[in-house]
Amino acid sequence: MTTATSISLARGAPSLDIIAVDDLRAAADRAFEKDPAGAFSYGTSAGYMPLVRWIAERQDVAPDQVLATNGSMQAYAFLFQVLVEQGDVVVVEAPTYDRTLLALRQMGAEVLAIPLEADGIDVEALAQALEGGARPKLAHVIPNFHNPAGCTLSLKKRERLIELAEQYDFVLFEDDPYVELRFAGEQLPTMLSMDQNGKVVYASSFSKTVCPGIRVGYLAGPAELIGQTRKLATSTYISPNMVAQSIVAEFCESGAIDRSIETVKNALRERLDVLCQALEAELPEAEFVVPEGGYFLWIDLPEGTDVARIAELAGERGVVFVKGVDFLMEGGENSLRIAYSGVPADQIGEAVSRLAAAYRDAIGS
Ligand SMILES: Cc1ncc(COP(=O)(O)O)c(C=O)c1O
Repeated sequence: MTTATSISLARGAPSLDIIAVDDLRAAADRAFEKDPAGAFSYGTSAGYMPLVRWIAERQDVAPDQVLATNGSMQAYAFLFQVLVEQGDVVVVEAPTYDRTLLALRQMGAEVLAIPLEADGIDVEALAQALEGGARPKLAHVIPNFHNPAGCTLSLKKRERLIELAEQYDFVLFEDDPYVELRFAGEQLPTMLSMDQNGKVVYASSFSKTVCPGIRVGYLAGPAELIGQTRKLATSTYISPNMVAQSIVAEFCESGAIDRSIETVKNALRERLDVLCQALEAELPEAEFVVPEGGYFLWIDLPEGTDVARIAELAGERGVVFVKGVDFLMEGGENSLRIAYSGVPADQIGEAVSRLAAAYRDAIGS
């Protein structure tokens, strides 16, 4: 059976209705009018300088501590290329963002997976691994509204991670594309802002607050390390996409970014509310930590539930999501990730009904 309209709970992207198309068009017009030479030339590997300066100010670092890239995926690809060699130990969270996990494994890194808790990575499990002799080069941490787990790293754990990075001399990679999308609870400081000794490299992105198609993200961190990534960027592509970055710069400087963030946050809050209510009503077996922001809800189903089978049955009913196993090196068979960012609120009830029906079919009741 295939249902007429398919609903995707799989993609961590904003739906078109919450993208500020008119403000983007106006920003492009102004950028091309004001600075055609900057927008249309190769430019520098650091990125479009007005945007680099805007990011530096926002993150309270010097401009030479910023590299603006084609999406934050490009940013971490450069960072990994500079720092990680075959056989190096890299700490990741379990579960973690599937693409960074894949990138690290393809580079031949020895991945040390540390479990996530409701308030972020289990720092004491990490401390034990370090005491037991693990010597990572890098630890990858997604602090806010985690992809895929939805959780947020507590302040205490942020402090502890910096302490561990200092004590055991590894780079703490703070991967933070969702930071601006908090719709409940208190904003926490970035580890970049807390770092006194140059241990933190920070990445963020305009994909989740403006639109992913613009492909603009960045790294911010110690000037020397950023200098190395800039060299790599020069030899890779001379410079990133200046047209896109000039539009984003204008979008940011004009304040359109703040309106866009509000629009996205309001939509996310509403979508999550509808999602949680629908799950409680139709799939009470689902266990989850309600996120305080961001795009994702992680669901654990009862032990022994075959989520791969549910995914097949849900696909036949016209709803797709990502299986938990895709974010882990082992386990996750009874878990799944739902992205509520890409689906208008009025479709979420229907999506959950289909998911719940697929669950009942899979367990044979
Ligand atoms: C944790 C995390 N890091 C990085 C990215 C990549 O984002 P970008 O579109 O900026 O390349 C994503 C996108 O989903 C993400 O969830």
